[in-house]
This record gives sequence, structure tokens and C-alpha cells, in this order.
Amino acid sequence: MRLHGSTALVTGSNRGIGHAFATELLRRGAKVYATARRPELVDVPGAEVLRLDITDPASVQAAAEVAGDVDVLINNAASTAGGNLVDGDLRAIREVVDSNFYGTLAMVRAFAPVLARNGGGAVLNVLSAVAWATVEGNTAYAAAKSAQWGLTNGIRLELAAQGTQVTALVPGMTATEPMKAFAAEAGLDLPEGAMNDPADLVALALDGLEAGEVEVLDRYGLGTKKLLSGPPQVFDLAGIAG
Ligand SMILES: NC(=O)c1ccc[n+]([C@@H]2O[C@H](COP(=O)([O-])OP(=O)(O)OC[C@H]3O[C@@H](n4cnc5c(N)ncnc54)[C@H](OP(=O)(O)O)[C@@H]3O)[C@@H](O)[C@H]2O)c1
Repeated sequence: MRLHGSTALVTGSNRGIGHAFATELLRRGAKVYATARRPELVDVPGAEVLRLDITDPASVQAAAEVAGDVDVLINNAASTAGGNLVDGDLRAIREVVDSNFYGTLAMVRAFAPVLARNGGGAVLNVLSAVAWATVEGNTAYAAAKSAQWGLTNGIRLELAAQGTQVTALVPGMTATEPMKAFAAEAGLDLPEGAMNDPADLVALALDGLEAGEVEVLDRYGLGTKKLLSGPPQVFDLAGIAG
């Protein structure tokens, strides 16, 4: 998938990894719709800014109508704070599943016909290494990411016939504000450089997308995927950071 001359839509581009995606896509010569729940917070010079809440069906439908020229869909937006499954707030658990799973699904369903009309194009879903492990304190988020991984594999099969490439980005800790706050709160004593720089992660992701890769893994993605062939007792992200 060549990005130069493509038209990309990025969800959650007001901050964090989404902001880095919108910025790098523009640098690589794509037209970019930088979307956010609060578009007034989007600061991506050169992008077309759209209001988009991926959990609001009317908002998703409106975006698909306005952005009818999209051939690259970057599903980045998601809640990352579900808390724990057994004793956590059930509303937060529903919200984390709602955005990661149903929000991503709503975007794919609305944009699949748009991508088909525009030659097939590509979808990149931003998953997480916790899809293949888990993390104490945020096990609901990990479960939501596992569901989103299954979703990604499913839509890859379903969209193959229309020529849509589906790529999963499976990263670990990346230095965005919520991640830095989570690490500080959890008292994680991380070595220098333990977290990805968002711009480096996005460059890796878009290189993979352009190369037609099905999964793009950073060192955390590589490490957790290996765990899957071991006993389930080791499915904990702790220990991979070093
Ligand atoms: N940072 C990491 O360590 C890490 C690691 C692996 C994977 N990821 C994944 O990377 C993606 C981005 O994470 P991040 O670290 O950049 O987090 P972030 O700074 O919290 O950004 C999340 C973005 O998603 C948006 N969002 C949340 N719910 C939304 C909804 N219903 N509709 C539209 N936008 C919504 C947020 O908008 P508001 O500003 O309106 O809340 C924000 O723009 C997520 O999918 C996350 O799971 C992150």
C-alpha cells in the first residue's frame, strides 16, 4: 500500500499515537482526515479536521459520508483505562470494550464500502501487546485488546475479497501521557528507553503497512507473541519491559 497520494483517516488524532500517525502520514504525502471527539483540540497543520466519536453510530456514519475518498483507515482511538475485571467499575469495563471492540468494528463496517469503492486500500488497527499477555491493574483493557485482535483477524478474512489489506500494529509501552501516568502510578521502575517514542512506533507501523505486512510488532509484541506457546501462568506483561 503506497501512502504517497493516498487518503488516510486517523481516529483519536488530538493526542498521543494518533497525533503521531496524522503527522507522519502527511509527511509521507497522504491527504489526512485528522479526527477526534473534540476537533478543537486537533493540532495537525495540513490535515482536514473532523469530529468523530467511534462509539456514536451517527458520528461514524457522518464521517464515512464526508470522507468518501478514504483508502487508508487507521483505527487508533480507544479508551485505555478499564481497570481490573473482578472488582473494577463495570461502566469503565464496558467503555473500554465499547471503544476498542465495538468502536473499531463500527468504523470498519462504515468504511468497508468506502475502501471498496476506492480500490480496496488498507485498514490498520492499533492493538497492544497486552492482547497476548495481560497487565495487573488494567486487565479489562487487556481483554478488550484480545477481542480487538480477534476482530482484526476476522475482518482480514472478510475484506480480502474486496482487496483491502488489514494490518495489526501490536506495540507495547509507548510514551504517551496516559501511559506515563500509569507507569508512575504503578511504581514501575523502567530502564531508560523502555518506552517507545510515539513517532518511532508510527514510522515502524507505516513502513509495515507500506510493505504489506499483516502484523507489525515492536519488541513487546515480539516478546508477548512468543509467550503464547508457553504455559498461561506467564501471560503477564511484567518482565518483558527490561
Ligand atoms: N501508549 C501505549 O503504551 C500504548 C501501547 C499499546 C497500544 N496502545 C494503543 O494506542 C492507541 C492510542 O493510545 P495512546 O497511548 O495514544 O492513548 P491516548 O493518549 O489516551 O489517546 C487515546 C485517543 O483515543 C481517543 N478516543 C478514546 N475514545 C474515543 C472515542 N470513543 N471516539 C473517538 N476517539 C476516542 C482519545 O480522545 P479524547 O482526547 O477525546 O479522550 C485520544 O485521542 C490506543 O488504541 C491504545 O490502546 C497504546
